[in-house]
Amino acid sequence: MNAPLDIAAIQSQFPILQREVEGRRIVYLDNAATSQTPQRVVDAITDAYTHYKANVHRGVHTLSVEATEHMELTRRRVAAYINAPGSDCIVFTRGTTEAINLVASSYGALLSDGDEVIVTQMEHHANIVPWQLLSHRKAISIKVAPLHPDGTLDLAALERLFTPATRLVAVAHVSNVLGTVNPVKAIADMAHRHGARILIDGAQAVAHQAVDVTDIDADFYAFSAHKMYGPTGVGVLYAKRELLEAMPPYQGGGEMIGHVRLDGGTTWADVPYKFEAGTPDFIDIAAFSSALDFIGEVGIDRIERHGRELGAYAAELLSRIDGLTIYGTAEAKAPVIAFNVAGAHHYDVGMLLDRLGVAVRTGHHCAQPLMDYYGIEGTIRASFAIYNTRDDADALAAALTRILPLLRH
Ligand SMILES: Cc1ncc(COP(=O)(O)O)c(C=O)c1O
Repeated sequence: MNAPLDIAAIQSQFPILQREVEGRRIVYLDNAATSQTPQRVVDAITDAYTHYKANVHRGVHTLSVEATEHMELTRRRVAAYINAPGSDCIVFTRGTTEAINLVASSYGALLSDGDEVIVTQMEHHANIVPWQLLSHRKAISIKVAPLHPDGTLDLAALERLFTPATRLVAVAHVSNVLGTVNPVKAIADMAHRHGARILIDGAQAVAHQAVDVTDIDADFYAFSAHKMYGPTGVGVLYAKRELLEAMPPYQGGGEMIGHVRLDGGTTWADVPYKFEAGTPDFIDIAAFSSALDFIGEVGIDRIERHGRELGAYAAELLSRIDGLTIYGTAEAKAPVIAFNVAGAHHYDVGMLLDRLGVAVRTGHHCAQPLMDYYGIEGTIRASFAIYNTRDDADALAAALTRILPLLRH
């Protein structure tokens, strides 16, 4: 798709972007935390509550059948979006966090004392703490792949961490702080050559670029709908079917069983239902389809190009500000810019930016080991989505230029 983007038409689908904060039209630059949701997704939620709210899979009645069809349609759409071999490889969770906890718990149950898991220095806590919890249950050691100062992974050092005991590498596709796009296909190949599996945290990738789990040869791939223009409360775990079949259930309850017997001989449902205990968030799952429609209409290639260009433009603009340091300067970054300004605390900068209508994130971004690596407590983070423009980057730079003299007094 090469037609130029009509950003005004895209923006008009997001009524929240008209909101004013402190008397100014909001400049929303906290998309890495959660993106905004187009009206069609909100309408899809309302439509489900209005017309077909009924519990899925359980009933034979019309509403239940319709609710189930909507949920299963989304499963097929998600599988197609990431080029999974089938929709039975798609498990719905509450988010990326729950998807990774599921793997750490269920795949973790297949690991033995002495096994090793590799994470990286740039991981979100969601891709560190579940492995640490596993290491409290079993004698599993966690190794950490180091970074280069520009915020890219040291791939040679990563490769040296593998031993015959390495079972899994857990790595972000895109860093939520640095914006670095990791070469996950090469890392998957490396893991497989060493007889290990790979879990890719795709939370920051799926909204910005095409993802093909088959081409990557990912064993596990996790992401959240709310970061890709979808509703909250919905996450996805893609896993190879043979892994899902080998793994024990994560939680027990309704819907995930074959037959429950009080003598302990309970059997499990087929995958993926074995991993979906209880009533899922079927309404938000159904509405997630509309977010995929939105992305499909705009075109993920155009979204990627827009993000790369806008991110590069904003980084160039910010780097002209005296005393400003950007963390993560890899080539072809996702549009996420974490920075600090000498003499100003990140929190104060964020507060004052809000007074000028600019919404950014401040703090450690759930990546404290990464903050430790750079010797900082936190950063300001501006992250961009398809509805952001150069005007938004200009507004951020102008607001910084206004507030920094006040903070540096
Ligand atoms: C890289 C990364 N992984 C995991 C998560 C956790 O996602 P969620 O809170 O939707 O489970 C986030 C959220 O910020 C993230 O950026």
